[in-house]
Amino acid sequence: MIRDLRAGDREALAVILRGDEAFRADEVAVALELIDGALAGDPDYVVLVAIADEQIAGYVLYGPTAMTRATFDLYWIVVERRARGRGLARALVGAMEAAIRARGGRNIRVETSPSDAHVAARKLYERLGYPIAVELPDFYAPGEALLTYYKQL
Ligand SMILES: CC(C)(COP(=O)(O)OP(=O)(O)OC[C@H]1O[C@@H](n2cnc3c(N)ncnc32)[C@H](O)[C@@H]1OP(=O)(O)O)[C@@H](O)C(=O)NCCC(=O)NCCS
Repeated sequence: MIRDLRAGDREALAVILRGDEAFRADEVAVALELIDGALAGDPDYVVLVAIADEQIAGYVLYGPTAMTRATFDLYWIVVERRARGRGLARALVGAMEAAIRARGGRNIRVETSPSDAHVAARKLYERLGYPIAVELPDFYAPGEALLTYYKQL
């Protein structure tokens, strides 16, 4: 099941983020800042939460891209390790795309890196029809590019 974020969800999302070795401590801190923005009602950040076995098992955080008419950024997606491979990320992205469409959105951008930590995420974006539109070499660090995926709904 996918539902909107609720005030009491923060700790469960923090536990999922902290328990995931894909994210460094500074990345977890940024992820939590964005969640706090969504909880505070900042319209730039929207969170959808995945529920599996009656527990929070992951989330997607997205929002409208500044200075664009109909483009959105998918900023973060994570599914708790034990709940992976069951279609939760697919359901989260599907619900996000439906919500973006309902708001008149047309384009979705996702940025990630080619590091081993994000191999599942890259597979996910490819499977869900997000082609790589741009690659900036050495962006994150020497040898670590920025990959920009871009889907037009
Ligand atoms: C990426 C992630 C969100 C995928 O979550 P998930 O719920 O396991 O994904 P799903 O079960 O919905 O899979 C959807 C599709 O992605 C593909 N996919 C997902 N994980 C994959 C993996 N490890 N290897 C290959 N393909 C994978 C599957 O092929 C699947 O397509 P299918 O349904 O046609 O078979 C999860 O692995 C995760 O949280 N990773 C760590 C966090 C991260 O890197 N987040 C992104 C950066 S912010």
